[in-house]
Amino acid sequence: MIETARLLVRRFSPEDYTDLFEYLSEPAVYVFEPGKPISIDEAKAMSLERSRGSDFLAVELKDIKKMIGHLYFKQAEPAWLQTWELGYIFNPKYQRQGYGSEAAAALTAYGFEHFNIHRIMARCNPQNTASWKLLDKVGFKREGHFRSYGFVHADENGAPIWTDAYEYSLLRD
Ligand SMILES: CC(C)(COP(=O)(O)OP(=O)(O)OC[C@H]1O[C@@H](n2cnc3c(N)ncnc32)[C@H](O)[C@@H]1OP(=O)(O)O)[C@@H](O)C(=O)NCCC(=O)NCCS
Repeated sequence: MIETARLLVRRFSPEDYTDLFEYLSEPAVYVFEPGKPISIDEAKAMSLERSRGSDFLAVELKDIKKMIGHLYFKQAEPAWLQTWELGYIFNPKYQRQGYGSEAAAALTAYGFEHFNIHRIMARCNPQNTASWKLLDKVGFKREGHFRSYGFVHADENGAPIWTDAYEYSLLRD
């Protein structure tokens, strides 16, 4: 459990499913993320699965004891590079209030302190201003602009909609 001024970054609990459903059922969160709005049953299964692992962490707003978003934090392969990947999705109702950067700053600091991490990296679509501004704010440096790098959605014929990607990183040093 990591505590900040306004937030708790903690393991998922199976009971988080209603809060998870509230934002993962919103089409707005999938503009730059893979997937599509989920059902309440899918949210239940996802919360349970996440509570059994540690790749996804819940972000709870302390004042109202509500989960308002989550972080993804996982070691990338190969393990000897000591590189971890960061991701995040926040409930649109709670965006643009500094919660995403507050949570990401706390988690990355915790990671460097407690794990043998050399580099934390994150990728985002250059059009996802909220995402790269969050990374800027936390101290990540933009290291690359990859052209037509990947896709998270397909067109009506099933063809990939290729998009560019920025790569950012934060080094232990
Ligand atoms: C990316 C995301 C997690 C940011 O969360 P957040 O809690 O709104 O972030 P913060 O409030 O800490 O804002 C961080 C910076 O981004 C800016 N920002 C946030 N939303 C923005 C938007 N829609 N447009 C432009 N800038 C934005 C903030 O102003 C802030 O910069 P500043 O301090 O220079 O003003 C959130 O927008 C989100 O969940 N998006 C949908 C899922 C997604 O795209 N995830 C990332 C995939 S790579």
